[in-house]
Amino acid sequence: MLERFVHQIQHFILYFASKSGFLCSVYYALCSASFWREHRGVAYGRLKHIKEAGNPVGSQYILRRNIHLLEKGLLMRPRGKVFALDYIQETVGCYARAFELGRTSPDLVSQVELQWASDVLSLYFDVAGAHPIVDDLRNRFRTLRADAPDRTPTAVPYKRDLARPPSIKYEDLLALARRRRSARWFLQKPVPRKMIDQAIAVAALSPSACNLQPFEFRVFDDPELTKKVASIPTGTLGFSQNFPVIVVLIGKLHAWSSEQDRHLIYIDASLAAMAFLFALETQGLGSCCLNWPDLGPQERRMSELLGLETDERVIMLIALGYPDPDGLVGYSQKKPLPELRSFNITA
Ligand SMILES: Cc1cc2nc3c(=O)[nH]c(=O)nc-3n(C[C@H](O)[C@H](O)[C@H](O)COP(=O)(O)O)c2cc1C
Repeated sequence: MLERFVHQIQHFILYFASKSGFLCSVYYALCSASFWREHRGVAYGRLKHIKEAGNPVGSQYILRRNIHLLEKGLLMRPRGKVFALDYIQETVGCYARAFELGRTSPDLVSQVELQWASDVLSLYFDVAGAHPIVDDLRNRFRTLRADAPDRTPTAVPYKRDLARPPSIKYEDLLALARRRRSARWFLQKPVPRKMIDQAIAVAALSPSACNLQPFEFRVFDDPELTKKVASIPTGTLGFSQNFPVIVVLIGKLHAWSSEQDRHLIYIDASLAAMAFLFALETQGLGSCCLNWPDLGPQERRMSELLGLETDERVIMLIALGYPDPDGLVGYSQKKPLPELRSFNITA
């Protein structure tokens, strides 16, 4: 009786709250803590993003984003005579800091990222037309690199070789997708790290917004640690003890400067996860994604165990290993095509 009453009140409040964004915000501010962690993560991430703007250590999200934008400007048809005026100064600033640091402490900067940035900036300054801002920065860039070895930029937009068909046929991919099923039972046999790295190498080629790749695969193959990590999520009851390897896929909210991009960590990481699963499957390994709902105790335990920062959000976990041939997998009927797609339907 009381339960029904509470349910009706909730229904009533939700009915009014859902009428507007403002009312919803009031509801979630006063009646529910469900979004606290996410809000805090986003705010913390924005702050970290601003703080990191002048820090050239490691991979730099601002540099990656801007070099990506320059690439898009360079491949535009027709290409503008002068473009990137609103972010070229910031780009050269980020690049210069990383370049200078790389001279004294090469290990502290991401060398591949710096090379990519060098090549794209070189090409940009070669083709960009005359403009006071561009001319000034062109001089700065070339002076900075005056002693650097001469090289033809190679990490720049290019034409793909489309003359030959892909080596994998549609039927091969379909067969792989049919073969992959969520495996929950594994042989107690170590998984060579090389196989995991090879799968991550495929995952790394996935698309990501502005090519930022704001995620990390935290791999656990130590038996004790694997058990500890696997015991935290709620959806693994009854089979978590048999995972030879568990991966915690982490998204990094500080990749972005604005709340509007807060969902990209989930999208980018999930696209990479799918490629990762397929790559495992091609190597004879099975896997199972594990849900990570936003639950306080689980979040706390995982953050403590992994030493996560507030903006680092768990996207999902992935258990993997050699599948036990005697372990069953779900039939998992998939939806038929008409339920999954439509063409040209509008309001
Ligand atoms: C984001 C996500 C979370 C999942 N969480 C769990 C989980 O907690 N426990 C579990 O046993 N399976 C989990 N799965 C696996 C799904 O149950 C499985 O993918 C689905 O039933 C379809 O089966 P299939 O993967 O064999 O096609 C998850 C899958 C995804 C994509």
